[in-house]
Amino acid sequence: MLNLEKIKSQLIQQELLVELFDSLPSTNDYLKNKKYQNSAVCLAEQQTQGRGRLGREWYSPPGQNIYLSYFYRFQKKIEELAGLSLVVTLAIVKALKICGIQNNLFSKWPNDVVWEGKKLSGSLIEVQAGSSQIQDVIIGIGLNVNMTQDEEKISQAWTSMQKILGTNQDRNKICAAVINELTHYLQTFNQQGFRVFVEEWIKTDCLTGQTICIQNLDKKVTGKVMGVNEQGCLLLRMSNNEIQAFSAGEATIVKV
Ligand code: BTN
Repeated sequence: MLNLEKIKSQLIQQELLVELFDSLPSTNDYLKNKKYQNSAVCLAEQQTQGRGRLGREWYSPPGQNIYLSYFYRFQKKIEELAGLSLVVTLAIVKALKICGIQNNLFSKWPNDVVWEGKKLSGSLIEVQAGSSQIQDVIIGIGLNVNMTQDEEKISQAWTSMQKILGTNQDRNKICAAVINELTHYLQTFNQQGFRVFVEEWIKTDCLTGQTICIQNLDKKVTGKVMGVNEQGCLLLRMSNNEIQAFSAGEATIVKV
């Protein structure tokens, strides 16, 4: 069971507001329109209407995984948030390394964490109406921890920490690690922007150097991944050798 006291006792930022629920439709939706002045975190043992990117469902059975949403106020213009989903992904990768997954762990642009090509975690970032210089953002994270069954309920190839490490994992410890790393990465991003993360991203991303296809709405483009720029946009070398930058889309590796 998740236990608020156990989680809080391991947090670096002791004053952070953390709330835990047995069941919610969606932790992201819970944080919406709450008018927090400072950062806040919401956790649930299960979600009945968990949401993924691109209108997909996020399968959220009780008592097995982590469903976490983090409210953060950025002193930034909206266009400066382009690299945020990459920073969140890096924070999750770091937390997972701290929790014992050292090998075969990669980020996949823009916001997946994969292990041997199978999805372990994803994030859904929702920007609330802000002013020109302040953006209130809800960062939702789904992390497969002790889920080992229900293969058929999820359309993508997936894995979980228990499948990888072979034993049941302490979700309180993992929640604390994710919250601690997010707190640190979000603060650095707020103060210094994405440019300080470019190298870490290029080392962690499984797409760098690969030929991929990016689908965005009804458009598809293919090119070779040359890394990311200082804004967090993916750089693709197109067939005419031109480099183009992409800020959104769904990437799949093309076998060449
Ligand atoms: C994705 O990879 O498609 C994003 C998945 C995000 C799921 C999390 S679980 C906690 C938060 N609440 C939601 O309804 N969605 C996010």
